[in-house]
Amino acid sequence: MKIGIFDSGFGGLSVLHEAYHQLPNEEYFFYADRKHVPYGTKTKEQIIEYADEIAGFLVGKGIQALVVACNTATSVAIENLRHKYSIPILGMEPAVKPAVEGTDDKKILVIATPVTVREDKLKNLLKKVDGEHRVDLLPLPGLVEFAEKGIFDGQAVKEYMLQELSGYDLDAYCALVLGCTHFNYFKPVYREIFGNKIALVDGNRGTVRHLADVLSLDNISCDNRNIEIQDIDEMKEVYKTTYFISGDEIKDEQMLKLITKYHNRLEFVRNI
Ligand code: DGL
Repeated sequence: MKIGIFDSGFGGLSVLHEAYHQLPNEEYFFYADRKHVPYGTKTKEQIIEYADEIAGFLVGKGIQALVVACNTATSVAIENLRHKYSIPILGMEPAVKPAVEGTDDKKILVIATPVTVREDKLKNLLKKVDGEHRVDLLPLPGLVEFAEKGIFDGQAVKEYMLQELSGYDLDAYCALVLGCTHFNYFKPVYREIFGNKIALVDGNRGTVRHLADVLSLDNISCDNRNIEIQDIDEMKEVYKTTYFISGDEIKDEQMLKLITKYHNRLEFVRNI
């Protein structure tokens, strides 16, 4: 099956990477709207317009399903897309429900973009699943910038996080929900700051499982296999993916090589 996956940038690779694990036999069209990244500080109208253009572009490539691998775009644009296109369209939202259900009575911190934190979609979800008010929300737009620059570790990331968390009692939390697909790359930093006991919860595995269900695809057994991508050819041929940046197919070897590095980082952090 032909599956389209899009995000404002390289955060969505975390969903694509998970799809390589669970659904390695499908054909993927991955679209990073780097011309407009970050979405998390744009207006609702702008994000709706970008998402619509991307969905139209990918539908034109013959995709049979679309994954909006972006919590921000999901929160403001998914209804519009579903209204307009007849293929299955899956979105992403911060995995608050599994975090609430899977942990004890300590607090849960959801980190996301400013748009995701502000919008009704997340507030409505909290009303449904956070009856005990265990969840706090924190926008961390700086992490999107670090991720796009390929800076995943190091002092600058840690200092930014510590600065943003300065008013929080870190020991009060038992789970950190990664409510932005760009945030997966930083798991070692979260561990450094919050320690080993905190649960890091993201929606990637669940989203791909849901995709397999919706399309009645066999969820293949390489879920636990180590997927390290050796080179561009392997990425393109074994995992049958065409990459686009804001409407242009990526053919530049340097950029494709960079994407293999992002995939390998995602492999490295997958089970942290
Ligand atoms: N990766 C996106 C998300 O999941 C958006 C990041 C951004 O462009 O601000 O929300």
